[in-house]
Amino acid sequence: MASELARDRWHPPVIEGRLVTLRRHVPENLAAVVRWYRDPELARLSRYQTRPMPFEEIEHFFRTRLLAADAFAYAIHQRPSGRLVGLTTFSNLDPDNGTALFHITIGEPDSQDRGLGTEATELMIGHAFDVLGLHRIGLSVFAFNSRAIRAYEKAGFRVEGRLREAIWRDGRHWDEVQMGILADEWRAGRVGAVAAPAVGEAELVP
Ligand SMILES: CC(C)(COP(=O)(O)OP(=O)(O)OC[C@H]1O[C@@H](n2cnc3c(N)ncnc32)[C@H](O)[C@@H]1OP(=O)(O)O)[C@@H](O)C(=O)NCCC(=O)NCCS
Repeated sequence: MASELARDRWHPPVIEGRLVTLRRHVPENLAAVVRWYRDPELARLSRYQTRPMPFEEIEHFFRTRLLAADAFAYAIHQRPSGRLVGLTTFSNLDPDNGTALFHITIGEPDSQDRGLGTEATELMIGHAFDVLGLHRIGLSVFAFNSRAIRAYEKAGFRVEGRLREAIWRDGRHWDEVQMGILADEWRAGRVGAVAAPAVGEAELVP
């Protein structure tokens, strides 16, 4: 009971925004996740290998990285319809150093470019800094993915470096761009916001 309460604090069932609601995954989300992970355009934009992923691999990813009780992952639902349109996760959550890596996919093409990705990113990093008490969030993005870079910049990420020519795509090499945001930068960008007390480290890892 106590550990369930702790989980509800560090990984709430629902995080409500203006354009999107983040909800913990339910088993029924698998079909949409399979469809997104088999979409060649999404693979081109976000995966190192563009070969089609076998169902078993996607199902394993869904079960262990999205649905599992110790996975910090959310389904992105568009408001007000509640339609499932994407997913977002933190990986490499490191309580010793206060760091995590951020990932997001708006899988439904007609829900892209409407501000949903930027808001979902802001909700995730706001939770990470204001509730989990993390210090730094990092991400990596392919240099040709200008829309993603723009959305991350709008949410407050800065370019920190580049892995030169790390990705072969569309007949040429591209840089992989490293971006990051620090807790102080997040707070400075939110004048007037009241930060919630941080969850203790012991609660961060379930
Ligand atoms: C990347 C992603 C999360 C962004 O979310 P989104 O909801 O589509 O983006 P938003 O509408 O919040 O913001 C996009 C911004 O990029 C701009 N943009 C769109 N296409 C662009 C392009 N080709 N070049 C530059 N900017 C572009 C938009 O105009 C908008 O900026 P603005 O508000 O200043 O006008 C989403 O598009 C997605 O998941 N795409 C497919 C998978 C992917 O790329 N994942 C990220 C892997 S690192």
